[in-house]
Amino acid sequence: MLNILITGSNRGIGLEMCQQFKAKGHHVLAVCRTPSQELLALDVEVITDIDVTDGNDVQRLLKHIEGREIDYLINNAGILARNTLGDIDYNSVQEQFVVNAMGPLRVSETLLPVLADNAKIGIVTSRMGSITDNDSGSSYGYRMSKAAANMAARSLSVDLKDQGIAVAALHPGYVKTDMTGHQGYVEAPQAAAGLIQRMEELNLDNTGQFWHAEGEVLPW
Ligand SMILES: NC(=O)c1ccc[n+]([C@@H]2O[C@H](COP(=O)([O-])OP(=O)(O)OC[C@H]3O[C@@H](n4cnc5c(N)ncnc54)[C@H](OP(=O)(O)O)[C@@H]3O)[C@@H](O)[C@H]2O)c1
Repeated sequence: MLNILITGSNRGIGLEMCQQFKAKGHHVLAVCRTPSQELLALDVEVITDIDVTDGNDVQRLLKHIEGREIDYLINNAGILARNTLGDIDYNSVQEQFVVNAMGPLRVSETLLPVLADNAKIGIVTSRMGSITDNDSGSSYGYRMSKAAANMAARSLSVDLKDQGIAVAALHPGYVKTDMTGHQGYVEAPQAAAGLIQRMEELNLDNTGQFWHAEGEVLPW
């Protein structure tokens, strides 16, 4: 049984990952700001009032875990706003950086003392953060913040390899959740299953890569 910590656990892809990891017999630490009825019904360890942008909240999360070890840390919390050229809201661009790029870095760095020797870190980024793959433009804040999250994943993979910790940037697919107004190609359970498989296959030989949930290595 592994200890698996997931941020953004109250809905969408994060909630699905909680459910599936629990069904596999693991201990799930479901981190969120406000729990949902669906999350509470899962009977996992729910840790509330953690905003991934708030250093005090994340320190409180560390204190809550101290004495135990996390095997998988999955940074899943994220936000999307569509900033189009000519009408860019820079507060929104900044907020996406703080949540999507700095959030996973802050949580990963803060929780290092409680990560197991052979722990794995997943950062749920997005194909929209791929520079190579960008042939449709726009979505400035989201694309820029997810590209920065990809860079954080890569640097963490280099810095933590000697400690035996593997790190991956993970794209879930285009998933029907609140974030996409329930538009998409796949349902959350399918995306979550793919992300879980990527976490299970992540190791020190394939650390530092950007994966589609379905297994394809994506270009940066
Ligand atoms: N859906 C897609 O097609 C798609 C594609 C590519 C990547 N992704 C990525 O997949 C991840 C999960 O997305 P989703 O589709 O499941 O979206 P979602 O249903 O909108 O869920 C987003 C989650 O992030 C949490 N969150 C947002 N800001 C937070 C903050 N400051 N502190 C703590 N938690 C925060 C939300 O919690 P609250 O309820 O408290 O707001 C919620 O649990 C995100 O990183 C997203 O960018 C999604």
